[in-house]
Amino acid sequence: MARLRAELGTGHVLTDPDLRAGYETDWTGRFTGRALAVARPGDRDEVAAVLRACAEAGVAVVPQGGNTGLVGGGVPRGGEVVLSTTRLTGLGEVDRVSGQVTAGAGVPLARLGAHARAAGLDFGVDIAARDSATVGGMVATNAGGLRVVRWGPMRDQVVGAEAVLADGRVVGSLVGLEKDSTGYDLTGALVGSEGTLAVVTAVRLRLVPAVAHRATAVLGLASTADAVAAIGVLRGPLLSAVEVFYDDGVRLVRAHRGLTGPFRADCPVYLLVEFAGDHDPTEDLAAAVSGLPAVVDTALATDEAGRRGLWAYREGHTEAISAHGVPVKLDVAVSPARAAEFETAVRAAVSAAAPSARLVLFGHLAEGNFHVNVLDEADGHAVSDAVLTTVARFGGSISAEHGVGVAKAPWLHLTRTPAERDLYAAIKAAWDPAGVLNPGVLIPR
Ligand code: MLT
Ligand code: ZN
Repeated sequence: MARLRAELGTGHVLTDPDLRAGYETDWTGRFTGRALAVARPGDRDEVAAVLRACAEAGVAVVPQGGNTGLVGGGVPRGGEVVLSTTRLTGLGEVDRVSGQVTAGAGVPLARLGAHARAAGLDFGVDIAARDSATVGGMVATNAGGLRVVRWGPMRDQVVGAEAVLADGRVVGSLVGLEKDSTGYDLTGALVGSEGTLAVVTAVRLRLVPAVAHRATAVLGLASTADAVAAIGVLRGPLLSAVEVFYDDGVRLVRAHRGLTGPFRADCPVYLLVEFAGDHDPTEDLAAAVSGLPAVVDTALATDEAGRRGLWAYREGHTEAISAHGVPVKLDVAVSPARAAEFETAVRAAVSAAAPSARLVLFGHLAEGNFHVNVLDEADGHAVSDAVLTTVARFGGSISAEHGVGVAKAPWLHLTRTPAERDLYAAIKAAWDPAGVLNPGVLIPR
């Protein structure tokens, strides 16, 4: 503690329980633990100083960004130093020649997006936690979100990264070379590494063209199979979001936010579709939707307020679910072509494992990515086991965009073979031989 205080100043080493509290529990309230201290370094060299001090004292470190994670990967389990990156807020000028920008790990997503738009470009990834989620955490979890169908997940946006190893050495580059075939992709290894290999301090990010016009529709459908079939028709250069949710989730959101729509009568399945482009895509969207055979009801909006109103039914899910209680939350993906079959299977699996629980599904249907939220259920293990085993049967992913964290580490074996898990362990040992970075996350203890 004395060493950390000498390096960062007393004000940035938090030991008081009241000051630590906001860093010790995750957003859902499901994961919590006591930190030895919270260290808040203000630049890369201070990150290195914290890591060196912890390594020499044999104290484990939990890197944390905006603490919006959902798998317990960014909060302490007990006795670690939480290394908060929220003071690493440097944001470089947008480089219009390369179409890139350099951002500190602690830059919130909303600030990055606004910065890119002010320069006539945009950032390709958007998630509901945009005001708090930080760039470093989004790299660490390979966050995906709402526009993956158009621009891909974080992995596709990262051109370079600067990171500090557990022993304080600095690796990586922020030059932003789009071409560099000099061997292993160290930056790529950091994307999705969940703070287990190094602490990312800054990243070089690709930007995407800004789109001037958007049109959003919510379609009411009878089944997930109809929604899946619609994606095949809607895919094209204008498609920028395809989100699915269900009647039970809409009822929760309506009650939580005091809303009454999106339609007069309930529908079993809702599909939010967004088109975006250089010209007003309203007519393209209306024409595409009118060509779909199974649409029961439609709400369409082009103005900002109307579009936000439609998005509220989708984006309100996470908050409405948490307001109901602490959910067992799983984030999985299967091939989108099999999403309807998977929906049936996962509902059956949850009702067998937890007959009295309430299941709320929603997600990013173009990637076959379902957020499986199980409410009113105490036995998280049994229900997680049932869902993740079902995912594995479909050849799917036990973590589509939230990371593995501590929540899903016990199930890594379902989708990674013994040979692949040996490689994970060897990679971890190569980057962090003493095992001080985020122990217990991603790779089971
Ligand atoms: C979302 O898509 O809204 C996020 O992944 C958050 C969640 O799953 O609750
Ligand atoms: Zn999501």
